Amino acid sequence: MIKTALTYDDVLLVPQKSSIKSRSKVNTGTKLSKNINLKIPLVSSNMDTVTESAMAIALAQAGGIGIIHRFCAIKKQAQEVQKVKRKQNVIITKPFTIESYKTLKELKEKMTEVNCHSFLVSDNGEKILGIITPRDIVFSQNKNTLIKDLMTPANKLITAKPHISIAEAKEVLQKYKIEKLPLIDKYSNIQGLITETDIVNNFNNIQASKDSRGRLLVGAALGTKDDFLERAEALIKEDVDVLVLDIAHGHSSLALEAIKKIKDKYPKIELIGGNVATAQGAKDLIKAGVDAVKVGIGPGSICTTRITTGFGVPQLTALLNVTPLCQKYKTPCIADGGIKQSGDIVKALAAGAHSIMIGGQFTGTEESPGPTINYKGRQYKISRGMASLTATLSRPQASEKINEITPEGIEARVPYRGPVQNTINQLLGGLKSGMSYGNAQTLEELRKNAQFIRITTAGNKESSAHDNDVL
Ligand code: XMP
Repeated sequence: MIKTALTYDDVLLVPQKSSIKSRSKVNTGTKLSKNINLKIPLVSSNMDTVTESAMAIALAQAGGIGIIHRFCAIKKQAQEVQKVKRKQNVIITKPFTIESYKTLKELKEKMTEVNCHSFLVSDNGEKILGIITPRDIVFSQNKNTLIKDLMTPANKLITAKPHISIAEAKEVLQKYKIEKLPLIDKYSNIQGLITETDIVNNFNNIQASKDSRGRLLVGAALGTKDDFLERAEALIKEDVDVLVLDIAHGHSSLALEAIKKIKDKYPKIELIGGNVATAQGAKDLIKAGVDAVKVGIGPGSICTTRITTGFGVPQLTALLNVTPLCQKYKTPCIADGGIKQSGDIVKALAAGAHSIMIGGQFTGTEESPGPTINYKGRQYKISRGMASLTATLSRPQASEKINEITPEGIEARVPYRGPVQNTINQLLGGLKSGMSYGNAQTLEELRKNAQFIRITTAGNKESSAHDNDVL
């Protein structure tokens, strides 16, 4: 007998008697992985049209997390991680430096390359010679002027000892009306930098996902072959918080061996494994050492895996297959792909997922990588599956010829949607409202109270607006 499998549109949740007084007060906090907490259960996909540093920063500031894609050179991916870690950072432990004998032209090139506008000046990367900020170069026209002739020299700098507290640093910044406070040891060696902007951001943003040093959380993807250990090393060096194994069929010996190798070499790094759609798949990943399991074979908005290969499991059934096993092993589960609207997020969490990975709904936003394009007077951005024809061809080590590729994803044009925060607000609004219908103060309660019913095509039709000319 062939089993039936269901997805989000096949079911609804039965409303519960609710004692939730205010939807805005429900707690959407969750676990991404065994040791990473999030304030909202949203994760942006590791796709090259979804997550680079801008998206990861936006997601982390909103309380979720972004996973930087791996379809670029190791150095570029590590730089994207670095940009997130430096965005909101009370103590920058390794501030950027520039040599005093470099020119204004070289300074400007470095500013663009690392997306930072102030540098400590040092010839050996250790001993401080001065600081150079945009204020020092406002009126400088000659590109060949040397930094040493533009910088504020060390003898005119206000500095502090390396172990100064944030409160003391704030006082110094206020007292001397300065924006940057280099931290220097007794040998004049650079030990860090505190900036006024970072202190203000840290106090203002209590919603953000932060590490123990006040920096935004960020994840990054890596494959299972070739240079994946080298990639892991570069990402860990930039203090990435979590690695995500990026392989379409996660229940494979290739994935299991890669997990073991990563965990053997870096036992402390959080590692997410996937993708799977069965309990056995999840169990094997957990036994191999992952800290969270990602679920989804073919539900994504740009996926054609099920059409191309004939394999896959509708996403709700995939989650119901996996989440009891994850609960047994106290390992969080991530529902990856297939979210069309906020109600799908509520259903996925009610089915036992701890967080939701989203690609399509985040494409077309300001923070998604790539330019906007104009078509017939409207603005669009490009979205593509990472196994689509163009994505496969554009990989750094692509060796296949065009007619040897069997795509498992498509390219699409999506309308430009403005800042991703707008989309996040809509998705969270729906989730919070859903929690109220489910009498759930927490996501744990949403899971416990969940009562799914299967609906018919007529029921599904009734669920959307009907019998109107929708404006
Ligand atoms: P959504 O529905 O949010 O799904 O756009 C995003 C997820 O889709 C997966 N993904 C792919 N799956 N072929 C596939 O079968 C592809 O080319 C492809 N690219 C991305 C991935 O899990 C992502 O998070």
